[in-house]
Order: sequence, then C-alpha cells, then structure tokens
Amino acid sequence: MIMKFRVGSYEEYKQAYAASVNDPSGFWAGVAEEFLWRRQWDKVLEWDFRKPDVKWFMNGRLNITENCLDRHLATQGDKPAIIWEPNDPGEPHRTITYRELHEQVCRFAAVLRRNGIQKGDRVCIYMGMVLELPVAMLACARIGAIHSVIFGGFSAQSIADRLQDAGAEYMITCDGGYRGAKDIPLKATVDDALSVCGFVKRVIVLQRTGIPVTMTEGRDVWWHDEVAATEGSVTTAEEMDAEDPLFILYTSGSTGKPKGVVHTTAGYMVYATYSFVNVFQVRADDIHFCTADIGWITGHSYIVYGVLCAGGTSLLYEGIPTWPDAGRFWDIVGKHRATILYTAPTAIRSLMAYGTAPLQGRSLASLRVLGTVGEPINEEAWHWYNEYVGGKNCPIVDTWWQTENGGIMISNLAGVTPAKPGYATLPLPGIQPVLVDEKGDVITGNDVSGNLCIRFPWPGMLRTTWGDHERCRLNYFAAYDNMYFTGDGCYRDEQGMYRITGRVDDVLNVSGHRIGTAEVENAINMHEGVLESAVVGFPHDVKGQGIYAYVIMESMPDDDRHMHVRAAILVTVTEVIGPIARPDKIQFVSGLPKTRSGKIMRRILRKIAEGEMHALGDTSTLLDPAVVDEIKRTKV
Ligand code: WTA
Repeated sequence: MIMKFRVGSYEEYKQAYAASVNDPSGFWAGVAEEFLWRRQWDKVLEWDFRKPDVKWFMNGRLNITENCLDRHLATQGDKPAIIWEPNDPGEPHRTITYRELHEQVCRFAAVLRRNGIQKGDRVCIYMGMVLELPVAMLACARIGAIHSVIFGGFSAQSIADRLQDAGAEYMITCDGGYRGAKDIPLKATVDDALSVCGFVKRVIVLQRTGIPVTMTEGRDVWWHDEVAATEGSVTTAEEMDAEDPLFILYTSGSTGKPKGVVHTTAGYMVYATYSFVNVFQVRADDIHFCTADIGWITGHSYIVYGVLCAGGTSLLYEGIPTWPDAGRFWDIVGKHRATILYTAPTAIRSLMAYGTAPLQGRSLASLRVLGTVGEPINEEAWHWYNEYVGGKNCPIVDTWWQTENGGIMISNLAGVTPAKPGYATLPLPGIQPVLVDEKGDVITGNDVSGNLCIRFPWPGMLRTTWGDHERCRLNYFAAYDNMYFTGDGCYRDEQGMYRITGRVDDVLNVSGHRIGTAEVENAINMHEGVLESAVVGFPHDVKGQGIYAYVIMESMPDDDRHMHVRAAILVTVTEVIGPIARPDKIQFVSGLPKTRSGKIMRRILRKIAEGEMHALGDTSTLLDPAVVDEIKRTKV
C-alpha cells in the first residue's frame, strides 16, 4: 500500500490543516511525492480563479495506470485488486489480483490501439457494473484516451447528447446488463443513440448476458474477438502531462443540458488517493465495499482510481440492494468480509423500511468503518446505520463532495476526528471552505449559514467543462469573486462544524442523483400537447427529494384521461433522460405563477409541492394571483 501521508489523530489533523493553509505547495508536494512520476513537477501550483485557470504539478509526467497497477506488482502482485460480486447470488464471484488486472488492462489497451484509438480521443463507456468496466477505463487511461462513463440507466437520447458533446468516435458497451430482476438491453439502447451519431466509428461490445444483439458490420466488434485477435499488450504506458485530461463525467447543473466536467491526470490521482486513505483510515487488509455506480464520480474515485492507486481491495457489486431480498448488502459484506461500507443515505432509508429482519443471521462483524455520500443524511437514518449496521462500533464518515471536486472535501476522518450526526463536520487538510452571503461577503464566526464556496484550489478540482470553458467560469467562478461556488447551502455550528443543507440552485438531489429541473422541464415539454412545465423538488421519505411537475397542456385532460396522459409523459421523460428523472407527481394546471416580467415564481411552486400552503409569502407581484388558488386547490 502507498500513502504514508496519514493523519492519524485529531492533533495531527489540526497540524496538517494548519500546514496546508500556511504552505499549500509544500503540503501537496509532500503528498504527491509518494506517487510514481516519470518526471517530477517544476512547480506545484499556478492558479487564477477568475479565468479560471488552475494547474497542479506543472510539467510533471506520469501515467495513472502505472500508479494503479504497475507499481504494486513487485510488492503485492497477488493481492486482490477487485472482487466482483454478480447480480445473481447463484453465479460465482470473481477475484482479480493486481497482476491479473494489470495483464488485462495492458491487453485491452492494445485492443483499443488496434481499433484506432489514440491519445486524446474520447471514448464513451456504457456498461453495467462488470469487472470489465474498470478494465475499459484503465485501458483508456493507459493509452491516454479520455473516457466518459455514462450511467447505465441513461436513455439513448442522453447517450447521443454526451457522444455529441464529447465528440466521441468510440464506444465500449455490453450486450446487456443485470440489475436486480431486470435485464437491461444496453447494446440496443446504444444502437438507438447511434442512429443519430453517424460519426461513431467503432463500438466494442462485451458479452455479458448473451441476449441477441444486432452487430453493425464495419462498426461493431466483440470484446472477446478483439482480445483474441490482438497481439501483444501495452506494457509501456503512454506518458501523460500532469494536466492532460483523464476523463470527462457529465453532470447536471441548473441550466440546460448536462455539462462535461473535466478531470486531469495528476491532480485527480493525488486527491482521490489522499482522500480515500485519510477519510476511511484505510489499512492494507481492508476490503472496501463502495455501493455507488461507476457511472457517477463516487464510483470513479472510490471503486476504481483512489482504491487502486492506494493498493487497496475494491469490492464491486453488479446489482441492487434489495434483490433477491433486502439482505443482499449484508450477504455480500459477510461473504467477502468487507471492512468498509460506503453507501448513500437513500440506500440506507430504503433498507430501513424493511426493518431489522433482513439483518438477522447475517454477519456484519467484519465491518470497521461506514460511510455515506451524495445527500444530507437525516438523523434517523444515521442512527439506524450506526446501531444496526455498525453495531455502534464503527465510525460513520459523512462525506460531502461533488463531481466537480474529484474527491471528498468535507468529512470526519474515521475514528480520528469527531463525528456528528447530520454533519459532514470538518474540511480535509488542503480544503478551505467559506460561507458567503447574498452580497458575496464572507461570513465569519460560528453558528452561521450561507452559500458554500471554496476559496483556494485543491488538486482534484475540475479544470474546465468540455468544449465550453466559459460555461465553467459562469457556473462555478462567476457567482462570487475569486471563489469556487458549490451550489450548496451550509450551516457552520458553534464548534465550526459544517452541515450541508442542500442545493440553493435549481438542481434536485433525487436518491443521491443530481438532476437539473430545467432538464426535466425540457423533457416534459417535448411531449406532444405540452405547452409549458415547471419542475420543483419536494421532501420524499426514501429518495430524499422527489420530483414534482406542474404541466400546462394545450387542452386540460379531463379526469378520465389524467392517468393516461400522466403515464405518457413519464414515458417521454424516460426516453429523453432515463427512469431516474421521472416525476413522482404531475399536476395539470391552466397557468403558472409568474412575475410581471414573465419569470416563474418557483418559490411558490416549491411551497405548494411541500404542502406548505400557508407559507407562500408575498404573491402580490404576480401577473395573475388567481392561478395560485387554482394550483393550491388541485394539488396532487
Ligand atoms: C450533495 C456526489 C449532504 C450536495 C459525490 C452536492 C451531499 C451534490 C453530501 C453533489 C453529503 C453530496 N451531505 N449533501 N455528505 N454529498 N451531497 O456531483 O448537494 O453527484 O452538491 O457528487 O450532492 O452530487 P454529485
């Protein structure tokens, strides 16, 4: 294992934190030094948030896969790198050692080259949670191709949008995927996407389920055929600049289509690994079970890159928490003796709903550390997790961070710094959070609330949004001068501990998934007969937030047709984005509350969706106040 840089006590935390603020370059040079570089950096950091222009480890040269794989071969080649647990508990699991993973990655990297893929090319990956998914990602990184993993729940239209935006001419997919009782037709969805993406030259298809698929001659090839036909392997990885892009990951913002967050090689590597080891206080014999999907940033950093760079063992699970029954997570923990469990509050809440019966007869004794990510955790879920999963014996790390951050930013360090239910607590050394008021002034002192910003760069931060740097500036660096704006609201308590209170922009957090209200509205508006729509969030017991849509139709559907039209709108949203964006509630209305300048008053719609009819505030500036009464009356 690497990462000698470990904060092992609260005292050490305070010292490291102070050092990271007093001398950031010295601090990060100390962390980065342990990695494998082909060439050392000349300068640790240059930055200007106003452009933004941020460069870490300048002119350093390296390949991240040499850090994830090659460097471990001599010392721990036979250690399991990834343990893969299939969807169906009846199917055997697979364990792949560092040596085997290295071999597969080098080989598949040669396959990519044989198919014409070169350094800098974008490769979209749309696969289920199979062992070959990290192989595909690492093989891209091995030859310097930029991967963009697309969550397997996204629709053909979403895939097409991402392929176009990234200008990706290559795809890697599976024939199908398994998730719980469902078989997902991945290749058929890719085919639909490619019907409008004629620029895609090559699709490499892994056989997973064996369902019949259409293979387009000259474009589609089988993974196994290519591996068999390829001679040799990429034993010498491509030498990358520290700031060369490693991957693009699309995420939702408050406006328009998802944007491609760009992470670069060295900074991301250093930050993902540093945060992994320190937050979870990882040991050499840990089995790290992160239940996120690799299609999201959590999977990138804490199933693949951070874990492998550190030389840890990652447990990769193909399926869902509740199949074949609500004890599946616990079976997996027991079977593989997982020591760390990292999951989302929404998963905890959905399992809580089954009570403690599924925990009976299952051994969770191997667990040492628990973690949560993706959304605020309510105290009830925190206590359940602590008591029934952790046996009151495992520290819980509540980790706040974002796709744009590359790794965990604010969190307690397991067993080292204090925990507080509902609080992400303290920033990692190297992270400088500030709370800012509406005017952009920094709020000092404790027991205060404001918008959460970060006022100094960290290695894992995004560098740009793919193909549109101005969009990156406007989204993250324009709201407050010389600061990165997170989009989150935050409270700092009397002790200086941070509690994230949720998004302050038009982004929803549904089951830990970020979804822009504008995106859902666009999708609804594409449905025939829809004139206009407005989407807001409302509190949801399991999902954290649910999606509430107000829809104006050309002609208001009568009672008999309500159900039918509603169902049809859901189909459209599923087609345009994917099932995760389906509204939980749809209310047909004849108008929306608007200001005289035509702006939708979302505040009012949010209050109605939350059921707080009495708290609508001032409605006198509305163009047509009567519309509010109608909406209140017909609330669903
Ligand atoms: C929210 C996920 C409260 C937050 C890694 C953030 C959280 C968004 C927490 C990013 C947490 C994430 N407590 N809220 N521990 N972690 N969030 O990009 O609103 O999918 O802005 O990254 O999730 O979501 P993303």
